[in-house]
Amino acid sequence: MRVLGIETSCDETGIAVYDQQAGLLANQLYSQVKLHADYGGVVPELASRDHVRKTVPLIQAALKEANLSAADINGVAYTAGPGLVGALLVGASVGRALAFAWNVPAVPVHHMEGHLLAPMLEDNPPAFPFVALLVSGGHTQLISVIGIGKYELLGESIDDAAGEAFDKTAKLLGLDYPGGPMLSKMAQQGVADRFTFPRPMTDRPGLDFSFSGLKTFAANTIRSNGGDDQTCADIARAFEDAVVDTLAIKCKRALEQTGFKNLVMAGGVSANRTLRTKLAAMMQKRGAEVFYARPQFCTDNGAMIAYAGMVRLKSGADQELSVSVRPRWPLAELPAV
Ligand SMILES: Nc1ncnc2c1ncn2[C@@H]1O[C@H](COP(=O)(O)OP(=O)(O)OP(=O)(O)O)[C@@H](O)[C@H]1O
Ligand SMILES: [Mg+2]
Repeated sequence: MRVLGIETSCDETGIAVYDQQAGLLANQLYSQVKLHADYGGVVPELASRDHVRKTVPLIQAALKEANLSAADINGVAYTAGPGLVGALLVGASVGRALAFAWNVPAVPVHHMEGHLLAPMLEDNPPAFPFVALLVSGGHTQLISVIGIGKYELLGESIDDAAGEAFDKTAKLLGLDYPGGPMLSKMAQQGVADRFTFPRPMTDRPGLDFSFSGLKTFAANTIRSNGGDDQTCADIARAFEDAVVDTLAIKCKRALEQTGFKNLVMAGGVSANRTLRTKLAAMMQKRGAEVFYARPQFCTDNGAMIAYAGMVRLKSGADQELSVSVRPRWPLAELPAV
């Protein structure tokens, strides 16, 4: 089976072709970051319009990259949520229309299932069951994963997502949107322990997170210490250490609670080097492993959607012809495969 994957949930148009035997055959990505830069965040209507411009040309580019024609595609997978409704509708309409024209099945994919399964695209994929840490721009969740579609939410952020906290704090430090990766780079120049940020909600039981207080803490620290380059780097370091520590503490708790051996992390923030190093060391001590995808498959991409779609299509999932999307869509509502 060969599946065309279409991702348009936010500000990236991602198109890929995944072959059940040969693996990933094409991966095209267009980022709208420049389009939204002046606004300091994603403008939904501009995002939808840009997906309209980019989706079809990128599909053509992906087919060319894979040296395939439309007749070689056996199924279409498109992100149906969660995400921006207008942006989702672009990918869903194009995906459904192509599948109808090509006379192949189409399947709506849950964006976070895409992220969660992205580490399966790598050479050493994790085996079920595992605890998954989903850390992205819109989500911070700990999930018990027994199998595909067998997801139980163990805990999540009650306010800002980890990526959102990175981006908001980066903005305070004068960095452009989305500033997460730049903040992390800045933190490398920072002196550890000059500032100590709180580890929110680690002093009580449970697996929920709260990150919104960290940006306030950063704002106050900037106010009382000034914003010279070294101070900014020291604040970035203290912020990153606090987020990473907090995530690690809750991952350990989730592993102890479930009794599962391995950990998977996915979503944009799983590209963070400090987080990878910290969780790898923690898991090594536990005689187990942490799995994650290469950085380009941590942030939004079409490959993870093509892969998740292939898994679901193989199990016979296919929708009626209607184009429907779900801006909000709890992962635990997905059917098991
Ligand atoms: N190296 C890094 N360190 C910290 N944060 C990072 C890093 N790389 C990416 N991010 C953050 O990851 C986020 C983007 O990830 P992703 O594309 O998975 O999120 P999203 O698609 O916007 O959200 P969601 O998937 O929840 O809808 C941004 O907040 C970005 O700052
Ligand atoms: Mg995403």
